[in-house]
Amino acid sequence: MDKKKIKTIGVLTSGGDAPGMNAAIRAVVRAALIEGVKVKGIRRGYMGLLEEDIFDMKSKSVSDIIQRGGTVLYTARCPEFVIPESQDKAAELCKKHGIDGLVVIGGDGSFRGAAALAARGINTVGVPGTIDLDISCTDYTIGFDTAVNTAVETIDRVRDTSTSHERCSIIEVMGRHAGHIALWCGIANGAEEILIAERYDYDEVKIIQKINRRRETGKKHYIIINAEGIGDSENMAKRIEATTGMETRATIIGHAQRGGSPTARDRVYGSVMGARAVDLLLAGATNRVVAYKDSQFVDFDIEEALGMTKDIDQYMYDLSKRLSK
Ligand code: ADP
Ligand code: F6P
Repeated sequence: MDKKKIKTIGVLTSGGDAPGMNAAIRAVVRAALIEGVKVKGIRRGYMGLLEEDIFDMKSKSVSDIIQRGGTVLYTARCPEFVIPESQDKAAELCKKHGIDGLVVIGGDGSFRGAAALAARGINTVGVPGTIDLDISCTDYTIGFDTAVNTAVETIDRVRDTSTSHERCSIIEVMGRHAGHIALWCGIANGAEEILIAERYDYDEVKIIQKINRRRETGKKHYIIINAEGIGDSENMAKRIEATTGMETRATIIGHAQRGGSPTARDRVYGSVMGARAVDLLLAGATNRVVAYKDSQFVDFDIEEALGMTKDIDQYMYDLSKRLSK
């Protein structure tokens, strides 16, 4: 396909925001403009597309954003986008606004929307953005690195006070459907327990026995990292305190771990992925998703990508157990 076929690229962010999305937006805008391609920003994901919340983006539109968390394009969940009539309307609106290439920064759900638009003649490329790392085709997703580092720092703080009071702390980290953040934090924070839905083996009796054994050997604190997918941290804390007699507190980190200034890795990889999405569109590609696999930036067909599966790293999981013995 002719390199100059694409005249206007639209860019949107969809699903949960993630630090580093702004770096990707900036890269899309600047990589396109330098090739003489116009860029239209679409606010609030597919919702904004259906509502025609679309504006021209210039190089200056993305000045001073690479260091900021969140997404300057805002994001939204748009449940009606699963309906074919909404997808027809969105494709028509893209055409109306001259958008012949679209970069969708988000997760699997957002890529399903992108595939629907590709089927309707809009060239689309997805860029993986989610703190959860739960996109199967890629070893890296924009925002995971920052979110893990934020959570690790927070857990260190909880540990200080937990140790001072000789308490048990249950710290709940994000990841409704995936325990990657919990696993990384568990290892990085040297937690005594990591609870993730993918390896659900929550056995309170065993945990209580372990706490009691540790206390007998003089251990002053006990850190349990609990993934959001398991949840129930407050009740768990009450039960553990009642049975062990060790004061126990639950801390749910929540959305604090989704915000904040992106790490260098999220800025750099976000930039590479955003620019690569533009390169793909200009090369005539459509229905693709950018990925980072086996230390290489690559791309996959969206349906192929959505058909892939990913599990928790078993070695890392076993390691976390070995190191917390
Ligand atoms: P993520 O993109 O992070 O996986 P969601 O699953 O919430 O987040 O999806 C984000 C948005 O993508 C949804 O609000 C909806 O607009 C769109 N979307 C999700 N699933 C589909 C689908 N099957 N078909 C079309 N659009 C979808
Ligand atoms: O997908 C990212 C994520 O932060 C999940 O870890 C979490 O379960 C979810 O989004 C929270 O979504 P919301 O911001 O809509 O409460």
